[in-house]
This record gives sequence, structure tokens and C-alpha cells, in this order.
Amino acid sequence: MTINTKVPVAAEARFPSPLRFAGCDPSTAIRYRTEHDRVRVYPCITQELDDPETVFERAGPREWITDDPANMTVAIVTCGGLCPGLNDVIRGLVMSLWHHYGVSRVLGIRYGYAGLTPAGLEPFELTPDNVDEIHRDGGSVLGVSRGAQDVAVMAERMREFGISKLFVIGGDGTQRGALELAGVLDGVSVIGIPKTVDNDILWVDQTFGFDTAVDIAARVISDAHVEARSTERGVGIVKVMGRDSGFIAACAALASLEANVVLVPEVPFAMEGADGLLGFLEQRLERKDHAVIVVAEGAGQEHFHGLKERRDASGNKLHQDIGELLCERIESHFNEIGKPVKLKYLDPGYSVRSAPACGTDRIYCTRLAHAAVHAAMAGKTAMMVSRWSGHYVHVPLELVTQGRRKINPGGSLWRTVLEATGQPCLAEGARKGESCR
Ligand code: F6P
Repeated sequence: MTINTKVPVAAEARFPSPLRFAGCDPSTAIRYRTEHDRVRVYPCITQELDDPETVFERAGPREWITDDPANMTVAIVTCGGLCPGLNDVIRGLVMSLWHHYGVSRVLGIRYGYAGLTPAGLEPFELTPDNVDEIHRDGGSVLGVSRGAQDVAVMAERMREFGISKLFVIGGDGTQRGALELAGVLDGVSVIGIPKTVDNDILWVDQTFGFDTAVDIAARVISDAHVEARSTERGVGIVKVMGRDSGFIAACAALASLEANVVLVPEVPFAMEGADGLLGFLEQRLERKDHAVIVVAEGAGQEHFHGLKERRDASGNKLHQDIGELLCERIESHFNEIGKPVKLKYLDPGYSVRSAPACGTDRIYCTRLAHAAVHAAMAGKTAMMVSRWSGHYVHVPLELVTQGRRKINPGGSLWRTVLEATGQPCLAEGARKGESCR
């Protein structure tokens, strides 16, 4: 596979950066980055690359920026669903633009890409004073919305506002829009910041807000465990978000260490028969008298037939409710065999994404925001800031928009889940009684 990691440039950087590492001893390593500062794409990926020397540009301040910050108009937009840390990123961008560079016209675009159309609400100006405390709240002070807008219309609106740098905080669909915008705007830096609670964006170690979401979901799994353990033949089912990726389910199960089965979209499972989910539950209840199942919303879609496909405003396939289906099938199966269970169904749903960011996410958001500002000031475009292999880097949007990240069923994360839960391979055709423990 050949990947092109070269980051496009929207405008030449000819203006000296006003950024001074105030208060720093000049002998410390803090310095401007150059285009020679690179991060190797790590080995498990390079094995698939034609050129093992493939590198990403390192993020960080450059010595030269595009224009005089006093004359710049910069905008921020948040798109898609909510995610813990959105306000932290907005705050980090505004603080860095004002305090590091002296940009004082920062527009907050209202309700996602819709705010870049004439029908959208007017933007409002963001200042250090009005973003100072926003990190304490979940959500986005700018508001969010789903759905693409006409790129030509958005570009025209940006020209009307005189925007020369746009920060786009969103998932893969949003970044596809950012790439198109960058393609039609001359001299404008469009910088993506990867956002999704699902952790399914390519070329990012982990998306911001994910730690917070996992923490909240893990607490709910522990609640389900307490309920199940305190009841005769108690079964707890916890359904978590994640769309087509099972990262929240897998990691929350590992964070709580209370789940006996984890069901994710990447690994189909059999329902019936001794080797299916119901058979495993029978054995588990005989042995321990309680069980906890964590199910990702996109799991088990193979168990729905003949239903009409539905999509959301962004074109994402809406999943059938696997949580409800599990409740029905488990209750009816155990009633049929004359051994009823007491089932509790918990769905933390939107609670995992509407919370304020936890400490580690907060640090991460601020670092991503600062990296994004430095990239925009240097004139980069059609790129996303990312933490890759522990380093902050620039990733071309062309790469980011090529797909979605999923759990590798043959990889170490899934293996750890199987080891930690002790669940057998529930896949159709798995060897009888096969256990990964
Ligand atoms: O992509 C984030 C996410 O929270 C998914 O996990 C979930 O499927 C979806 O958004 C819910 O979307 P909406 O906000 O449109 O209900």
C-alpha cells in the first residue's frame, strides 16, 4: 500500500511568528518545528506499506506564519454528535489564537455546517472571556448538527465573513466535508480535529472524549453487575454506543472487569445452540447464578431480517435495536426451558457523550487544539491534527476519509477482551466449547 503523507499548503508562510516561548530557558529543547521533524508510521502499519520510511509531519509551532494575526478572521465549527471535550477543544483554540498569536477575531459557527449557510444562525465572536469556563460543561457551546451542506454555498459564506482559517471538529463524514471545502477555497487553511466518541477515525491513536465515555460506560456495567449479582438468576445487559465499531463496548468491559460476554459489530455471534450465546448463558447461570452482557449498538445486526434500512442525516446506517432483541430472546429462551431469569437492561446511551471531559481527555483536547492552531498559522490545509504513536502529527485528510477504524478480531485488544471475560468463541461454526481462556 502506498500512502501519501504530504500535507498541502494553502498559503505561503512569510510572516515571522509572534510566538515566543516566554519564560523558557533558551537552552531547553522547546523550539519551532520544521518540516524535517517527522514521526515514523509505526511498524504494524509499515508492514503493509510499500515504503517503510513513510512518516507524518510533526505538529507544533513553525517559525513563519501566513499573515499578520491582527488582520485574521478565524472560525471554529463543531459537527456531528456530541462528544466529551468539545468545549475544551474550542477553549484551547481560542486561547491559543488570542494569547499565542494575537488573533482577536474568532467566529464560532452555530450548529455545525448548517451555520455556514445563509439559512444558518449568525456566528458569534469567541473571546478568552467567554470561553474561559466552558470546559466545565459537556456539549458544545457552538451547538452541533448532522448532515452535509453544499460546499460551494459554505465557501461563499466563508468568503463573506473573510475567514482565512477554519477549524473543523468532527468525525469522518465531517472531515470529508472539510476536505471538499479545502479543495474549493484558495488561500484558506482548513484544519480538522478528530472527534467521535466511537473512536473510529483512521490514523488516530484514540479520539478525544473516548476515555471519558469508557469511564462512564464502565460505571454502568458495574451497576449492572451489582444488580445481577444481588438477584437469583440475575442477568444484566448494558448497551453502549459506537456505531459500527465496538471500541466503547470492549474498553468499557475491560475498564469494569465485570462483563462475562462482550458483543461487538466486528465479531458476529450465534444466538441458538449449545455454542451460541444462549447456551453459554445457561452454563454461566448454572455455575455462577448471574451474568453480565455488554453489547455494542452495532453488534448482532445479522440477527435482524427483512427490516427496512434507515439512515441518519449524515447518511450513517441506523442500527436495529440489538439490546431489545437480546432481552426478548433471553427472557423467552429461559422461560421455555423452565428456568426464568431476572433481567435488567441498562442503556447509558447519550450519557456517555454528553458529559464534560475527564482529566486525561482534557489534557488531550488542549494539546490537539494548540497543535491545530500552529498548523493553521503555518498555512497548512486539508489536514487533521492527530496523536499517532504517542506523537502529535499532521495527517492529510485524504487518508483520514478512506474508511473507519474497527476492532481487529485477530488483534490484541479483542484477544484481551476474550481473556478477561473468559467468554468462548460464540461465532457460528466455532469449535465446540472453544474457550479463549
Ligand atoms: O457517532 C457518535 C454517536 O454517538 C454514535 O455512537 C451513535 O450511533 C450516534 O452518534 C447517535 O447519533 P444521534 O446523535 O444522531 O442520535
